[in-house]
Amino acid sequence: MIVTIDGPAGAGKSSVSRKLAERIGFQFLDTGAMYRAVTYLALQRNLDLRCGDVVGLAQGMEIVFQDAEVRLGGEDVSEAIRTADVTRRVSEIADNPNVREKMVALQRKIAEGGDYVSEGRDQGTVAFPEAVCKIFLTASPEERARRRCLQLSEIGVQADLKEVLAAQNDRDHRDATRLVGPLVKASDAIEVVTDGRSFNEVVDHLVTLVSQKVGR
Ligand code: DC
Repeated sequence: MIVTIDGPAGAGKSSVSRKLAERIGFQFLDTGAMYRAVTYLALQRNLDLRCGDVVGLAQGMEIVFQDAEVRLGGEDVSEAIRTADVTRRVSEIADNPNVREKMVALQRKIAEGGDYVSEGRDQGTVAFPEAVCKIFLTASPEERARRRCLQLSEIGVQADLKEVLAAQNDRDHRDATRLVGPLVKASDAIEVVTDGRSFNEVVDHLVTLVSQKVGR
């Protein structure tokens, strides 16, 4: 059984989805980590991110999600795929339709026969259109940028709200206008806006929504 969670960057999807999966006894699939992993591999090999070779990387990628860790061919890359460099370059990979095709096939293979909360941008629209419950998790651009600044200050990085907002607007635009797998709300997805709601309130709300849909 599949529950999909899509939405823009900074809406709190990853932490909420992980917790939701734990609460309902499903596994969690972080599909953003998959695009990040291809980007990390391509940068490590000094490949031009726009060249065809990246598709081969995506095709042969041995990615394993183990608890909170992401492993590539046995190596723990959980932190390496979240560096500023990877974050800045990942959309070049995510824009590639051939890479997306491989990633969607891999997502379906990983989730086959299991109970998964699958999180990303195109999970309810492209990867799992038959999902039993689809959530579109979002928040206003200002709220998302403010949360990002808070996260950064927690790790000692002082960021300018206006700059964070501008970079985020840029990412939103790229995500929404991508030719293949753009970020759009599936027509049958339930939109949840997280402005002014705590993490626990959002998770509780999603647990209720999923239970109603799944009948558990
Ligand atoms: O959610 P994230 O920041 O880890 O995602 C990393 C990048 O991958 C971001 O540019 C959006 C893209 N992405 C995508 O295009 N499709 C997905 N299913 C998941 C992420």
